[in-house]
Amino acid sequence: MADRTAPWRATILTLYPEMFPGPLGISLSGDALARGTWALEARQIREHGIGRHRSVDDTPAGGGAGMVLRCDVLAAAIDAAAADDPRPRLLMSPRGKPLSQTRVRALSAGPGAVIVCGRFEGVDERVIAGRGLEEVSIGDYVLSGGEIAALVLIDSCVRLLPGVMGKIASGEEESFESGRLEYPHYTRPREWEGRAIPDVLNSGNHGAIARWRETESERLTRERRPDLLGSGKD
Ligand code: ADE
Repeated sequence: MADRTAPWRATILTLYPEMFPGPLGISLSGDALARGTWALEARQIREHGIGRHRSVDDTPAGGGAGMVLRCDVLAAAIDAAAADDPRPRLLMSPRGKPLSQTRVRALSAGPGAVIVCGRFEGVDERVIAGRGLEEVSIGDYVLSGGEIAALVLIDSCVRLLPGVMGKIASGEEESFESGRLEYPHYTRPREWEGRAIPDVLNSGNHGAIARWRETESERLTRERRPDLLGSGKD
């Protein structure tokens, strides 16, 4: 378990540090950042670039389109930011293992993360093994770079830190980790554009309400995410 008197720390290695904290600077995560519950450092990879132009990329060995982030440049950026650092080192990549709530919980419970944001066609494969990078994907689609994926990952971790969400967070997560989607929610007005709140929710019968929610949860999961049923949490 991490030392919770120290802030959870995210170090981002990127060619676009101005993208941070971005949306994480407002609302609950922004308030927590201002309070010192977590800390963010966005570092410019180009500071470790080669030559007068601070070049960070080169053409792919074997030919082909696009550019590849150099292993020596990225390694220098990682070493300057996080040598002898116990935090996991992540590389945001569509090729990575899909991010899960289970992984988010583990990351959130630790000291933080060092997050490398890829650009171009990819990064030189050798730095992945050479610096022990764990490739993480946020879904089966391709973003123009890892920055937005890093924001997603950090948001999912920060909201679980003690005091960030208060009581709101934990219940939902439990239900997600139990492998079911959430049941539908309603609030006033009781009827809107001809659509009524299901009667059971106004019945005051807590047992019946709990059963209805359970059934709806299962129905939605079966319809939308049958892959979640009967398998593990990931
Ligand atoms: N970089 C580009 N696409 C990505 C994705 N789907 N997940 C994580 N990083 C990415």
